[in-house]
Amino acid sequence: MNVLLIGSGGREHALAWKLKQSPLLGRLHCIPGSAAIAGLAACPPVRQEDHDGIYGYCLAENVALVVIGPEAPLAKGLTDFLTGKGIKVFGPSQRGAMLEASKQFAKEFMERNEIPTAGFSVLYSAPFAREKIAENKKYPVVLKADGLAAGKGVRICQSEAEALAAVEDFMERRIFGAAGSKVVMEEFITGREASVMALVDGESALLLPVSRDHKRLLEGDKGPNTGGMGAVCPVELPEEDMEIIRTEVIQRFLDGVKKERLGFRGVIYAGLMFTPEGPKVLEFNVRFGDPETQAIMPVLQSDLLPLLSACADGRLAGKALELTGETCVTVVAASAGYPEAPETGRAITGLYDQAAGVQVFHAGTVKKDDAYLTAGGRVFAVTACGENVEAARGKAYAALAGIKFEGMQYRKDIGL
Ligand code: AMP
Ligand code: GLY
Repeated sequence: MNVLLIGSGGREHALAWKLKQSPLLGRLHCIPGSAAIAGLAACPPVRQEDHDGIYGYCLAENVALVVIGPEAPLAKGLTDFLTGKGIKVFGPSQRGAMLEASKQFAKEFMERNEIPTAGFSVLYSAPFAREKIAENKKYPVVLKADGLAAGKGVRICQSEAEALAAVEDFMERRIFGAAGSKVVMEEFITGREASVMALVDGESALLLPVSRDHKRLLEGDKGPNTGGMGAVCPVELPEEDMEIIRTEVIQRFLDGVKKERLGFRGVIYAGLMFTPEGPKVLEFNVRFGDPETQAIMPVLQSDLLPLLSACADGRLAGKALELTGETCVTVVAASAGYPEAPETGRAITGLYDQAAGVQVFHAGTVKKDDAYLTAGGRVFAVTACGENVEAARGKAYAALAGIKFEGMQYRKDIGL
């Protein structure tokens, strides 16, 4: 089976690495791909936004399955476009992608379908937002830009002044463009977090092993929020929490998707917080997590390709997942200045010849004369598997010690 993967980041590098191991795979293609992904897949000069170009490429290369990695093409309706032309796609419809593309849509979906989440109200305009903030007596309060903001549209406001500043930034200065035209105001909740992903074919779901992302830039969960600085998989949760996740999160999500005809064949990602009142959903994403995927793929014993293919044509029921039994730790190396203003163009040394069980998944690199240079905020993730988290951590950090570029920063406490 020929497969076309859409995307170019560390998540797609990890997906390509895993798909490449499938005995069912014919040729692997990736649009736009990256210098590192080009070692695993054909990366043609077609843009991710060029829906006609992607369709033409699928026909020319006899592609049997398209796997969409990032949220942007999902939110732009690439799935609807391709499935309308008879191409099989792993990835939700544009309406399904609203669960990530609009915080308001997601919160109202959770409310309608009784999925546990923090209390909220929707702020439709800046004057209305100021009125609501004046009435609010409880701090901290959380303000979220409604639309896609690359994980940066969330502010935990400690005071009325901070909340008003967020309203000004999101709704008036429009620092995230149209994504800030509406804002969701949310009750502040506390607890540990975890990422739960499930493969979904519209009718049934298959839980992937639970992982944990480390969102803050600095050790001890300090500093600004980032796209994610590292992840661990699997994470053991108490059985009573798992039961709530299965019945009140995933099952109610599936029921809601069916009732509301959201057309969801792909992966649902629930960002969860384990509060004293039980697990609550902080956010839905409609794609694999990044960097969680870099930690999940290496612990999957099962062939990923037939599972993704089964999601795309509604045959997931009865499928099971086998794990290797190992634990995986993935540590992100980021450029100096990340997340605000990352420096790029630095030469990276030591990328090759890793120990067994260690992978380097590239997120922001380019190749020049056979050498890799940094080209983004998150540059790569080192992923290592071991019999437990300590063993995996030891291997990941030993490998990282051998890779260098000027200004490289990474957290030393991933998995602690
Ligand atoms: P989100 O992108 O919605 O997952 O938010 C990013 C991060 O902000 C989460 O991982 C949490 O750490 C934090 N956060 C989001 N919503 C809340 C909330 N209602 N209460 C406390 N923290 C939150
Ligand atoms: N790691 C968080 C995300 O993928 O959104």
